[in-house]
Amino acid sequence: MARKKRPESPTAAALDPRALDYSASVSYDWRLYPYDIRGSIAHTRMLGKQGIIAEDEATAIVNGLEAIESELDADTFELREDLEDIHLNIEAALRVKIGDAGARLHTARSRNDQVATDLRMFVKDYAGMLTAGLAALQERFCDLAEKYADAVMPGYTHLQRAQPVLLAHHLLAYVEMFDRDATRFALCHELADVLPLGSGALAGVPYPIDRAFVASELGFERVSANSIDAVSDRDFVVDFHHAAALTMMHLSRFAEEIVLWSGPEFGFLRLPASFATGSSIMPQKRNPDIAELARGRTGRVYGNLMAILTTLKGLPLSYNRDLQEDKEGLFHSADTLISTVGVFSAMIPELEFDTERMEEAAGGGYALATDLADYLVRKGVPFRDAHKAVASLVAHAQGAGKSLSELALEEYRRFSPLFDKDILGIDVRWSIESRDVPGGTASRRVRRALKEARKRLAGR
Ligand code: ARG
Repeated sequence: MARKKRPESPTAAALDPRALDYSASVSYDWRLYPYDIRGSIAHTRMLGKQGIIAEDEATAIVNGLEAIESELDADTFELREDLEDIHLNIEAALRVKIGDAGARLHTARSRNDQVATDLRMFVKDYAGMLTAGLAALQERFCDLAEKYADAVMPGYTHLQRAQPVLLAHHLLAYVEMFDRDATRFALCHELADVLPLGSGALAGVPYPIDRAFVASELGFERVSANSIDAVSDRDFVVDFHHAAALTMMHLSRFAEEIVLWSGPEFGFLRLPASFATGSSIMPQKRNPDIAELARGRTGRVYGNLMAILTTLKGLPLSYNRDLQEDKEGLFHSADTLISTVGVFSAMIPELEFDTERMEEAAGGGYALATDLADYLVRKGVPFRDAHKAVASLVAHAQGAGKSLSELALEEYRRFSPLFDKDILGIDVRWSIESRDVPGGTASRRVRRALKEARKRLAGR
């Protein structure tokens, strides 16, 4: 069979091979192909409908693009390295497949508005996947809070035991963080939901195009209002990185707690064998590698945010080739987020807490000192004075090598005559239940917060 002629690259025919190698993006932007094909099909239908190209040519182009998409899906499409990017690859393949009509696809379009369109579709897709992924992750946190509804733990400030809290209250703190992250991804989706196609290279196009039609074919809410902005703008990429960086930061903080809590010094948490690795030489170890990797990968996701901000800061309007650098970091952060949210959703139901040990720790370390001060306040002592009296009491207990519950009433009274027998009833549970304010750790408040969280998630 005679080999069909390979069309030359419309942009790189005379390029030095080193320059081509330096400037090509096809090795990574190939993954935009589903968006590129959808964008091209919508564009072609519009060209046909508007009489800018003949209807039969439009049909041939659409069929050709669909065939190319099947090849790309099946991994039988041969990507040409001599063609700069996926957009030129698809167009060249179309010309091989359907002949001259293929050369009409790029009418009334530039790669500048084309690539901006593809990237917006990518960002919308991934922002949507991440809002859904975060909802699933939040459900797992809620499940865990429900499973350990009665468990208490020391709440920390400065990583010092501060006041006892319910474990569920601590876990629901993460649900709040991921709520904000989901809101950021939703906003990112909304801001990306603007169609650039129709802006041409930068000035618009001299054809009677129907942008609203293309927008509705591609599921864009609006069309861009300024062609120069449309091809220059990558704010939506920055927005994605911003949401990604904060989400990773939240995951990384939880990862840090998994690392701390699963070590013998805390001993709050037992990692499931399926999410921990052993050591080749130390048989007692269960290493929290998944948590550590998430914590570590947060660094590169932050880096991607800084990289795109820096790439954009000096660019004159409108399109500059620098903008090609928007993709690798975006793909990397998107993939890292999807996989990190996914692996945490899988790991969280497997976490096992040592509730006895946590309860013991919750009462230790003089964590009830604030409750003693509050006790005196209820008897009329100004808080600052109560604080001072209890500080002396704690110093006395420390000196005597006793915990607060081991002190006799007579010892309490040395620091304030207002201490009465009921002081001996102040324990961890009492402390927790006394914080009965909206947002507080009292069990009825936490139960309500859990219910509200579930309701919000169901409505998202
Ligand atoms: N590969 C380019 C990118 O990803 C496509 C746009 C090229 N446009 C241009 N005028 N050279 O940004």
